[in-house]
Amino acid sequence: MPPSLIQSCSSGALLMLLMANLFLWEKVSSAPINASETTLNDLKDLFDNATVISGKMAELGFAMRKEFFSNSFSSDIFTNIILDLHKSKENIIKAFNSCHTVPINFPETTEDIRMTSFEEFLKMILQTLLAWKDPLQHLVTELSALPGCPYSILSKAKAIEAKNKDLLEYIKRIISMVNPAIKENEDYPIWSDLDSLQAADKEIQFFALYMFSFCLRSDLESLDFLVNFLKCLLLYNDNVCYSGF
Ligand SMILES: *[C@@H]1O[C@H](CO)[C@@H](O)[C@H](O)[C@H]1NC(C)=O
Ligand SMILES: *[C@@H]1O[C@H](CO)[C@@H](O)[C@H](O)[C@H]1NC(C)=O
Repeated sequence: MPPSLIQSCSSGALLMLLMANLFLWEKVSSAPINASETTLNDLKDLFDNATVISGKMAELGFAMRKEFFSNSFSSDIFTNIILDLHKSKENIIKAFNSCHTVPINFPETTEDIRMTSFEEFLKMILQTLLAWKDPLQHLVTELSALPGCPYSILSKAKAIEAKNKDLLEYIKRIISMVNPAIKENEDYPIWSDLDSLQAADKEIQFFALYMFSFCLRSDLESLDFLVNFLKCLLLYNDNVCYSGF
């Protein structure tokens, strides 16, 4: 995978950096959007809740991926897949670029991040949440039907699915205040791996689970980072939020 700033750094570390800087710059300056004081306060409340949910989702995405690797239900197959992938660099790149949300194109460089507007970021978050809505529903259905699937995996998939909907509601409310012209049903990339997820061939099915959990985990980290980043832009001077880069 081409190294992406957002995806390769741990969002936790970046946030620490952001937070550390906040104490150096206590001056609150102009908001990144044109809104009244009341609207800004409402937005801050919405972002407070949104960041709690996105943080929880990122944790769950990581924990589910980890569980797939450690639980005897899937650990052997997942380990074989990773060994297999690592035989060829091309395979790794191909696999990692096959995530259905790749077209959303999260900014990858500092320059890109600075060039992306608040509204563009919001649109990316919306598209990502919409892009995962159906796949997550399918994941829960398929895992529920999969013999031997442990509760420790299923429960995390269910929790992520529920929180994806919650966060989507918050983001829609935020968007309606920032720019109602952004359509609620913004175009988003469609996931098309259901056949593999339902495959009778265990190897195909588990490879689909492998990729699903990989892409999901990566996107949930990016989402958490972006939601926190936008909250920072809303609360503080731009330079404070960008200074982590
Ligand atoms: C902000 O919005 C107000 C009223 O909607 C408008 O008069 C003003 O020109 C806008 N300012 C900017 C910088 O867009
Ligand atoms: C944030 O979450 C709390 C607890 O669930 C809720 O009481 C509050 O109304 C939420 N705030 C907004 C702005 O929705």
